[in-house]
Amino acid sequence: MQPVTLRTERLVLSVPELGDADDVVAYANDPDVIASTPVPVPYGHAEARYWISDVVGAGWAADTRYEFGIRRADDLRLLGTVGLFAFADGAAEIGYAMHPDGRGSGIMTEAAERVLQWAFAGPPEGLGLVRVQWRAIATNTASASVAQRLGLRFEGRTRSSVLHRGSRHDQLLAAALHDDDRSAPMVWPTS
Ligand SMILES: CC(C)(COP(=O)(O)OP(=O)(O)OC[C@H]1O[C@@H](n2cnc3c(N)ncnc32)[C@H](O)[C@@H]1OP(=O)(O)O)[C@@H](O)C(=O)NCCC(=O)NCCS
Repeated sequence: MQPVTLRTERLVLSVPELGDADDVVAYANDPDVIASTPVPVPYGHAEARYWISDVVGAGWAADTRYEFGIRRADDLRLLGTVGLFAFADGAAEIGYAMHPDGRGSGIMTEAAERVLQWAFAGPPEGLGLVRVQWRAIATNTASASVAQRLGLRFEGRTRSSVLHRGSRHDQLLAAALHDDDRSAPMVWPTS
């Protein structure tokens, strides 16, 4: 499909474009992003251009991945991204990353909530998905906090299930279904 633009009170969520390459390089080189996501290391302009064109652009065109760049409504700078991928039978996975300059003010929770609303809304307003799941390395408390604020329900811990930068890690799994009451978040037994 053609890329969609979503809005919230504070944010505009729109497809990252080649002009965003500097901003993508900036957040992709953040140590927390490197520690928590599979971004290539080192990450320069060639990697950013490839991601914007061949991953993001191609994903929208082929309906395999829908990535949104996150911007404040009054600032064109791309602070981070939130996206849906791994589509299968009415389900998908959500992933996100943010530059440190955009952290600590609820921007990611607000952006991801808007993407979930779009994911669960019926066509033509949304994708009509039934399930959106989230996975993260078990020590990634910042990502888990966002997922909890979104009202995702904890589904489990898969032991040594991901190989990341040469070491094996446990992963946490959580998900929302389209008819969940996400306003009453469940306490996660993550410790
Ligand atoms: C995961 C990540 C996006 C979370 O960013 P974040 O800024 O903590 O998330 P939010 O935008 O939702 O902000 C929440 C924080 O802002 C605070 N906040 C301030 N105003 C807020 C508001 N209006 N609404 C909600 N939270 C608000 C919250 O208290 C919270 O702080 P806390 O974590 O100290 O409790 C970020 O840490 C990151 O990019 N990490 C590296 C990449 C990564 O791990 N990606 C996920 C891989 S699975």
